[in-house]
Amino acid sequence: MALSQDEMKKQVADAALEYVEPGMIVGIGTGSTANHFIDGLAKMKGKIDGTVASSEASAERLRGHGIEVMELNAAGNIPLYVDGADESNKYLHLIKGGGGALTREKIVAAASDKFVCIADESKLVDIMGKFPLPIEVIPMARSYVARQLVKLGGEPVYRDGFVTDNGNIILDVHNLEIMNPVELEEKLNNLVGVVTNGLFAMRPADVLLLGTQDGVKTIT
Ligand code: 5RP
Repeated sequence: MALSQDEMKKQVADAALEYVEPGMIVGIGTGSTANHFIDGLAKMKGKIDGTVASSEASAERLRGHGIEVMELNAAGNIPLYVDGADESNKYLHLIKGGGGALTREKIVAAASDKFVCIADESKLVDIMGKFPLPIEVIPMARSYVARQLVKLGGEPVYRDGFVTDNGNIILDVHNLEIMNPVELEEKLNNLVGVVTNGLFAMRPADVLLLGTQDGVKTIT
């Protein structure tokens, strides 16, 4: 019988547990795939030193399992970060932020030695941009940033009623065909008022574990 998308997410989350080594501090992503990883980690919580969470939601789930959550500033360098994605290309450039946690995710990814991305096979694409690119913006800059995004060829849509863990808003940019993710990531970072954009290309994943009907595929 064919696996559901959620079963493929669980499959890769379980596979990622093999990257966890005794005594590690583990960086934890956000979303339904990361939630499967958190639930699996609970079974080996005595082996790790603690975790750093990329969102309040993940921190709460970790604490619910009795797993220690540390401040990034107290943790220093993190050997392993495990998180999902909304899209990935074959170079492991990602679009993230569907759950709105992109800024903290990018910070924890940057502070980590190894980023293992876990996703079901629907997330692997040739050209990124079909999934609207999330951009976290300081609230007062919303209209200004939206106008600049239109000039770049995008169609920004305000994520109504959503406030990030950092107190900011999200613009989801539709209609982008992202031919050069590194260049676009830099360009978006340079817009005044943008806190973070959801392209993870300057710091891509190191390993992509892809859940498929034929089992887990590892792409490096
Ligand atoms: C949250 C994210 C998630 O990793 C992304 O949205 C994938 O979510 P899911 O695992 O639920 O498919 O970037 O900000």
